[in-house]
Amino acid sequence: MIKKGGTYVVMGLLNTDSIAYATGKMIEDLGGNVIYTVQNERMKKVFFDRGCTDLPQEIKDAMVIKYCDVTNEDEVRSVFNDIGDIDGLVHSVAFANPKTCLGNQMYTSSYDDIKQGFHISCVSLATVSQFAQEHMPNGGSIVTISFASQLAFPYYNWMGVNKAALEALVRALAREFGREHVRVNAVSAGPLATKAAKSIPHFAHLAQTWKKISPLPWDAVNDKGEVANSVLFLLGKYSKKITGQTLYVDGGASAVGGELLKHEKPLKTMTAKKREARERLKRMQERQKKK
Ligand SMILES: NC(=O)c1ccc[n+]([C@@H]2O[C@H](COP(=O)([O-])OP(=O)(O)OC[C@H]3O[C@@H](n4cnc5c(N)ncnc54)[C@H](O)[C@@H]3O)[C@@H](O)[C@H]2O)c1
Repeated sequence: MIKKGGTYVVMGLLNTDSIAYATGKMIEDLGGNVIYTVQNERMKKVFFDRGCTDLPQEIKDAMVIKYCDVTNEDEVRSVFNDIGDIDGLVHSVAFANPKTCLGNQMYTSSYDDIKQGFHISCVSLATVSQFAQEHMPNGGSIVTISFASQLAFPYYNWMGVNKAALEALVRALAREFGREHVRVNAVSAGPLATKAAKSIPHFAHLAQTWKKISPLPWDAVNDKGEVANSVLFLLGKYSKKITGQTLYVDGGASAVGGELLKHEKPLKTMTAKKREARERLKRMQERQKKK
């Protein structure tokens, strides 16, 4: 998948629940080198004090973590200048003030909050991609993380708008950086239990909604690894001709209309229960035919 011994910058580490962490860990497990970025020096301290208590000391000691506020161009430039050549970049960063941008109505007069959310959650991809691609002499891959921007979900408000813009930006950057053999894509993930997600009002409702609309089972806690798998696919050599795309890793929720009917819901296990349910469905269909 990813290049063994390759160097990947993974931006957006907050704690071990972060999508950034799941992705970075998988890159390391497959033999890549990871440079994480956190928002600022304080966040680095927060990560080591509270964000990774579940990690053994030797793993913490081995982690390379730099800080970079993605809205600060000097910090972005200096992070990439310090690192040297890289093979890939993961942009797993977003923020919108929950009080003003994720309320129960779209309207807010807090225009500065809207601008800040747009800057961090969308525009920053262009900033970091600009400096990252200068350090990809042999081409490379950039992946960002989106969420269901084709639909309007309750409370997601301005973040939904930012994600739609982010996906448009992915296409524009793919067009621009193709000549440098740099690919730019997004993974649109289903709801996952992380700090950012917890700041979305009624996130639990969103996670519950997924149980009603996702043809495949969706686990908001444990499916982070599945999202990371797809990020690695887009970072690596098996996706060499894919750019400008949004890959939906959401259990299929984006592909179906309306709630699943009872008999369509994913089964708990794939073995005996599956056979049993199939037979029940067959019997039901035969009964209906006879009527
Ligand atoms: N959790 C979900 O349900 C879900 C679903 C789809 C997409 N996403 C997206 O995945 C990405 C990662 O979020 P997460 O769920 O892992 O949550 P997270 O809270 O672990 O990560 C968000 C990160 O953004 C960073 N950040 C915010 N402002 C920043 C700034 N100015 N400069 C640098 N970093 C900044 C935070 O410090 C944090 O590390 C986000 O883009 C989010 O919208 C999340």
